[in-house]
Amino acid sequence: MKDPEKLIWEHAKSPTSATPRGGAAASHHRTLPKLLVLLILFVSVTYVVYTLKLVTNSRDCHEPPFSTHTHTHILSGIGLTTIPTINATASTLRLLNRTSALTRRESRQTAAETQLRHVVFGIAASSKLWEQRKNYIKLWYKASEMRGVVWLDDKVSSAGKGERLPPVRISGDTSKFSYTNRQGHRSAIRISRIVSETLALGMENVRWFVMGDDDTVFVTENLIRVLRKYDHNQFYYIGSLSESHLQNIYFSYGMAYGGGGFAISYPLAKALQTMQDRCIQRYPGLYGSDDRMHACMSELGVPLTKETGFHQYDVYGNLFGLLAAHPVTPLVSLHHLDVVEPIFPNVTRVEALQRLTIPMKLDSAGLMQQSICYDKSKSWTISVSWGFAVQIFRGVFSPREMEMPSRTFLNWYRRADYTAYAFNTRPVSRHPCQKPFVFYFSKARVNSTTQQTVTEYERHRIPPPECRWKMANPSLLDRVEVYKKPDPHLWDRAPRRNCCRVVKSSSKKKKGTMVIDVGVCEEGEVSET
Ligand SMILES: *[C@@H]1O[C@H](CO)[C@@H](O)[C@H](O)[C@H]1NC(C)=O
Ligand SMILES: *[C@@H]1O[C@H](CO)[C@@H](O)[C@H](O)[C@H]1NC(C)=O
Ligand SMILES: *[C@@H]1O[C@H](CO)[C@@H](O)[C@H](O)[C@H]1NC(C)=O
Ligand SMILES: *[C@@H]1O[C@H](CO)[C@@H](O)[C@H](O)[C@H]1NC(C)=O
Repeated sequence: MKDPEKLIWEHAKSPTSATPRGGAAASHHRTLPKLLVLLILFVSVTYVVYTLKLVTNSRDCHEPPFSTHTHTHILSGIGLTTIPTINATASTLRLLNRTSALTRRESRQTAAETQLRHVVFGIAASSKLWEQRKNYIKLWYKASEMRGVVWLDDKVSSAGKGERLPPVRISGDTSKFSYTNRQGHRSAIRISRIVSETLALGMENVRWFVMGDDDTVFVTENLIRVLRKYDHNQFYYIGSLSESHLQNIYFSYGMAYGGGGFAISYPLAKALQTMQDRCIQRYPGLYGSDDRMHACMSELGVPLTKETGFHQYDVYGNLFGLLAAHPVTPLVSLHHLDVVEPIFPNVTRVEALQRLTIPMKLDSAGLMQQSICYDKSKSWTISVSWGFAVQIFRGVFSPREMEMPSRTFLNWYRRADYTAYAFNTRPVSRHPCQKPFVFYFSKARVNSTTQQTVTEYERHRIPPPECRWKMANPSLLDRVEVYKKPDPHLWDRAPRRNCCRVVKSSSKKKKGTMVIDVGVCEEGEVSET
């Protein structure tokens, strides 16, 4: 440790050094004392300013923010002519005091939390699929609380009349832009211009523009929870990647995938608007609208802020594995709902999503959040994806296995295997005894005495493969009941999985029902057997 100090010492003594470190080092040189005085002055002013800031930020303290005496002492202690310095410092402080009071008042006004009314949705839709796709929008869009515009390529007959849909508009003409990608479609250009076109409508009090497709379903309360973390007065481009590593390689690991939805702060949308048409012209060979957006963001120098609750879902098959092991972050969006199977079995896609809106209304912050616990007496592993499904496994699986999505879904590039996902996955258990027993969410209520939500999950009745293990058999259970207090402030705290506990029920009536309690982990509580 001594050698580096010595180096600095030597360095400081050298006359060519622009940044002398120690007072003693300066003694040999005539010019250095002046520099030193300036430096000390700078340091003391900085110190005073910070002290002041600390004091003024504390509401309870009404004492004078600093003691002039102390600073006189510090400065005179090293032999400076202190009077002018102090006066200058004092007046500077008074000024700073005034401005800090002013900014405090201002920030109290503008830092009012971001609400849904500060967001404008820009939805990319096509006239051909409108009749079918508008049903996804109806699931989440509330005309009385939200603002949004659906941008279409052509007129549609029943353009949202009497339906609770956003107003419909036809995108501006983009035939003057060139599009040379052979695989894609030139509608990518009109879709990438939606942010600028929505901005041009001149709505007031907008903090964020949120883009989505007509087959994107948003959990709007969670969208707001995510946006609240960021200062809307700055440049932000927020979204998430594709599940497919190959997609991310082909497009970019720095791009917000449009179907999963992404958010652009108001000032960034302003900056984009001034350059977007020129920018689009520079990339005629790109495939889609979101990579055009990404190209312009790169020109603006704004990187993607990744929020993993936006879901592009570039997969086929069954989303179950992904939904049963959601990352510890609020669920913001679901996409490609026409491509994957319905999220609940034996119902239509829209019916399945409608069912999901029940737990969404009760406790949006906790929707799809996983908790992992064990029934020690039976040696079972239990994984709850709140509001969606409960799984019971024979035997003990560690949380580090359970938090990995099981591969119930297929890769976007059909010939690719599990090495082509952009995250860890685990195989679907092959062993007949290790197949999970799945209970899907069926209904919910609130116990007004305990203020808890009671969600019920019914067993998916597919005949389980024969298992010869001599241990408790979960097929004796018909349903699982989960108690949980709504936790709207879940995401105001550091991310952490909830804990779950198997509740020993004594009543005979509940035969065939397992009762689970989900909530914030208690002191010392860990998911362990
Ligand atoms: C500095 O301020 C003090 C009190 O605020 C005052 O008495 C003194 O005359 C001032 N000195 C100068 C040089 O302005
Ligand atoms: C700073 O402002 C507070 C009230 O805003 C006032 O009470 C205090 O005397 C001021 N301090 C100085 C150094 O001006
Ligand atoms: C599927 O739903 C239909 C009617 O809604 C019902 O009759 C049938 O039993 C269900 N099948 C399964 C496997 O749940
Ligand atoms: C609510 O919870 C209390 C305490 O667990 C229980 O006694 C009561 O029966 C519950 N009420 C309903 C409607 O489930």
